[in-house]
Amino acid sequence: MSDTDGGDLPQGLQLTPMDDAFRENPYHILKRIREEAPTHKDEELGRFLITRHDDVKSLLHDREFYTEPSKANPGTFSREILAPAMIGDEKPSMLFMDEPGHRRLRSLVSKPFQPKNVERWRSHIREIVEATLDKISTTEFDLIEQFAGPVPTVVIAEMLGIDPTYHDQFKSWSDLSVQIGFNPFPTQAQQEEGDAANQALNQFFIDEIGRRSQNLGDDLISDMLRAEVDGEKLTQEEIVSQCQLLLIAGNVTTTDLIGNAVKALLDNPLQLEKLRLQPELIANAVEEALRYESPVLNSGRIPNRDIHVSGCPVGHGESLSVILAAANRDPEVYPDPDLFDIERKDTHHQSFGGGRHLCLGAHLARVEAQEAILGLLDRFPSLTASERGFEYHAIPSFRGFSELWVSGVSRVKQ
Ligand code: HEM
Repeated sequence: MSDTDGGDLPQGLQLTPMDDAFRENPYHILKRIREEAPTHKDEELGRFLITRHDDVKSLLHDREFYTEPSKANPGTFSREILAPAMIGDEKPSMLFMDEPGHRRLRSLVSKPFQPKNVERWRSHIREIVEATLDKISTTEFDLIEQFAGPVPTVVIAEMLGIDPTYHDQFKSWSDLSVQIGFNPFPTQAQQEEGDAANQALNQFFIDEIGRRSQNLGDDLISDMLRAEVDGEKLTQEEIVSQCQLLLIAGNVTTTDLIGNAVKALLDNPLQLEKLRLQPELIANAVEEALRYESPVLNSGRIPNRDIHVSGCPVGHGESLSVILAAANRDPEVYPDPDLFDIERKDTHHQSFGGGRHLCLGAHLARVEAQEAILGLLDRFPSLTASERGFEYHAIPSFRGFSELWVSGVSRVKQ
């Protein structure tokens, strides 16, 4: 049982969705930590949890800090748990790279993710949403399996230029790979399945790169093959590793955002009604959903010098877990932080991180969620939560549902 009310503050896995109490309601625990020890030393996992909004924001934006786990001190979370998870991966993804390697990779892949380029995809994303809704044939269904899961996978598969006949296979590899992607505590079964899926995905991407280099097209893999910065091109290994990062960083998170947003709307019928009457509120509603239920609970940084955070000394090379979900509900910044209000004025949030590593796919995720939610509400005018209920998934650092059952009669398409 987690100790969340009185007594010592929780430690270790009690501070991850692997713990039942934390998974059901992390905000209760995070509030207590923010109030009692805003810089909380988690001795079990060797890290500091940072929970105040202003601390989280300023640490994320410190451009001198590291994210490369091998730069952390021995005995810390980054060094002992994250770094070994990367052994064998000669080309880590940019999220765990420092300068100048990080800047080089990021600049080679960033163009298609710029908002104006993502906006070109909006109408196609709407078509993908419609096609996914067309396949729902029952009045009670699992929103995650039938809708929030498939939409982001198909979008990224299409952006990568992958033939539609491979989309189902691609989704299954991608789901299995996510089980170990950012999960420092996989079970043996998850590790084995994830490794096998990664190998299959690797080979798949190598074949795709081979095909594309003979015949460049209008897709992300071709863009990466074309891209050049200071006369340097991406190697095959680097392209494979970026493709994998896009899947892992982009799929579960966007699925979680869509699921979390729909759940928040169903739990708050007045907000749902307001959005139905004023669909133009969708952009603000998605920002509020990101603030209210951050799909990524925490990111990480390693200070390059001795610092103080909310008065607490933190040494050079320590492992910092910056808790985005705690920052987003800090009452110093957000009035009534536990209230879901799609017309909230101050919906800025920390859910996409910040500074050098600010989420590359932020605008894409926003557009997908906006189109997905509007499409779903339009297709199901009487959508409600179903009695079959919901389950949160237990992936460390992520917040979302493995199942979310809903009911509704589909409107006949005009
Ligand atoms: C709701 C959906 C998403 C959320 C909440 C999210 C959140 C995040 C967070 C918190 C980070 C770390 C930022 C930091 O430490 O400062 C990150 C990094 C990243 N995200 Fe996302 N993400 C989402 C969707 C996507 C999508 C759709 C893609 C691309 C297809 C993507 C690609 C990336 C990449 C490449 C990085 C590494 C950036 C770097 O290290 O420079 N993300 N994301």
